[in-house]
Amino acid sequence: MRVLVADTFPETRLAELAADGHAYRYRPEATTGELPAEVAGMQALVVRSTRVPAEVVTAGGDLRLVIRAGAGTDTIDTAAAARAGVRVCNVPGRNSAAVAELACALLLALDRDIVGNVTALRTGTWDKAGFSRARGIADRDVGIVGLGRIGLEFAARVAAFGARVHTVAKPGRSAEVAERAEQLGVRYVDDLPALARTCDVLSLHAPGDSGTLLDRHVLAELRPGAIVLNTARAHLVDEAALIEVMDARGILAGIDVFAAEPAGGTGTISSNLAAHPNVYGTHHIGASTRQAQDAVAAEVVRMLRAFGQGEVRHCV
Ligand code: MLT
Repeated sequence: MRVLVADTFPETRLAELAADGHAYRYRPEATTGELPAEVAGMQALVVRSTRVPAEVVTAGGDLRLVIRAGAGTDTIDTAAAARAGVRVCNVPGRNSAAVAELACALLLALDRDIVGNVTALRTGTWDKAGFSRARGIADRDVGIVGLGRIGLEFAARVAAFGARVHTVAKPGRSAEVAERAEQLGVRYVDDLPALARTCDVLSLHAPGDSGTLLDRHVLAELRPGAIVLNTARAHLVDEAALIEVMDARGILAGIDVFAAEPAGGTGTISSNLAAHPNVYGTHHIGASTRQAQDAVAAEVVRMLRAFGQGEVRHCV
C-alpha cells in the first residue's frame, strides 16, 4: 500500500513497513493544513496528534484507511470519513500502562509537592518542615471514573500502594473486567456524586465520547484537598468548575489534557487551568513512552499488513 506516516514513528517499524512491501512516505512534521496535499495518491494515513478533518479524508481519492496511533479517534472526522468510504481504526490497549504510569506520577508528585520541593531547592531554600504535609496514598480512597483497560492498569498500581479503589457500578461490564476488578478489590458506589464523596482522589479514564463527567455538581461533592487526575480527555471535566473548586476548597489537580491544547504535537497554549497554581500540568504525554509508542507502532504495522490482506482490525 501507499502509506503516509504523518507523525513520529520508530525507525525500526518504518523498516518493517518497507519490508512488508508498502511504499511509505514519512512526514512527521506535516501539519493538518499540509495533509490534503501530502495525502494525495496515498491509500493509508497514519497519525497520532495531527488532526484529520473532513478536507483531509476527502483530499486523496485513493485513501482507504486512516489509523490513529492511539486509543481515541476524536482527532479524526469519522463521520466525513464514513461518508467518503474511508475506514478509521484506532490502536487500543497498547499505551494503557504508560497512561496509568503518568496518572500515578501526577498523584505521587502532587501529594508530595515534588514541583514545589524541586523549585525551592533550585533557589537555595531548605524547608523540611514546610514540605512535610503530604497525606500519603496507602489507606486512602481512590475513585476511578471509567474502568476500562487504562482504568484497570491505574487501579492495579494504586492498589499496590495500599489504596482502596472505588468505581461506579455499571451494568454490562465484561466478565474479564469484572474479574480483574474483583482481584484488585474494587468497591462499587451508585453514581459519580457518591464516588466524589467517598474518595480522596478521582482519576478519569473514561472514553472520549463520554461527555462531561466531572461537572459542577459532581465536583461540589469532592472532599476538601482532594486530588483530581485527568489523563484521558479534556472535556470529561468542566475546566471552569474545576478552577472554582480549586480556589474555594484547595482541590489539587494533575492534568495531562487541556481544552486549549494545540492541534498538533507542538505550539502554544493559553489555559487558565494549565496556569493554575494547584495544577500539575503535562503536555498530553500519557502515551509518550518509548515502550508505548513502539507497541502502538508495531500494531500499526500488523494492521496495515492485515488490511492489505483484506482484514480490518480495530475499525471504529
Ligand atoms: C490516545 O488516544 O491513546 C492518546 O491520545 C494517545 C497519544 O497521545 O498518543
